[in-house]
Amino acid sequence: MLRYLLPTPEATDALGEALARARPDSAVVLLHGDLGAGKSSLTRAMLRALGVAGAIRSPTYTLVERYPLAGGGEAWHMDLYRIADPGELEFLGLDSGEAVLWLVEWPERGAGILPPADLELWLEVAGRGRAVRLEPRSAAGRAWVQRLPGELAFA
Ligand SMILES: Nc1ncnc2c1ncn2[C@@H]1O[C@H](COP(=O)(O)OP(=O)(O)OP(=O)(O)O)[C@@H](O)[C@H]1O
Ligand SMILES: [Mg+2]
Repeated sequence: MLRYLLPTPEATDALGEALARARPDSAVVLLHGDLGAGKSSLTRAMLRALGVAGAIRSPTYTLVERYPLAGGGEAWHMDLYRIADPGELEFLGLDSGEAVLWLVEWPERGAGILPPADLELWLEVAGRGRAVRLEPRSAAGRAWVQRLPGELAFA
């Protein structure tokens, strides 16, 4: 179990960059936390660090936004907050074969339809900043967490 304090949005960006840099070839990441905890901020920082240059839209209504990655495959950013029933995702007709990075907000609402997690994160408000707890759920996730820095470098 690993925990970081994120006193500013820049610290959230630094964690996103560190996660992107150390990421395994394929990973499923579940992001837990209340509204405004920073799940989308962290996801956006990871996607930017992975070279996504265009608009990064919130998947609140579309459920999923897909981004081709430079090294091949796609990152899938999902927000299941508004999902009525996990079966909805199947109706989107998504072929998950291309997905090499899953970043899922509100994953508890997609119980039973998501692939097994490699890494789970819990974000919460801490004073004016945020705190995050990381729990690996697979061998790839454990190796990933071990490659993260003990302290985040940010301005
Ligand atoms: N470390 C931090 N310290 C202070 N503010 C932060 C930090 N990280 C992110 N924020 C701010 O907190 C807000 C987080 O919003 P964000 O949309 O990322 O939350 P979310 O968890 O995705 O919420 P939702 O469940 O509604 O999707 C943003 O305004 C962002 O700038
Ligand atoms: Mg969000």
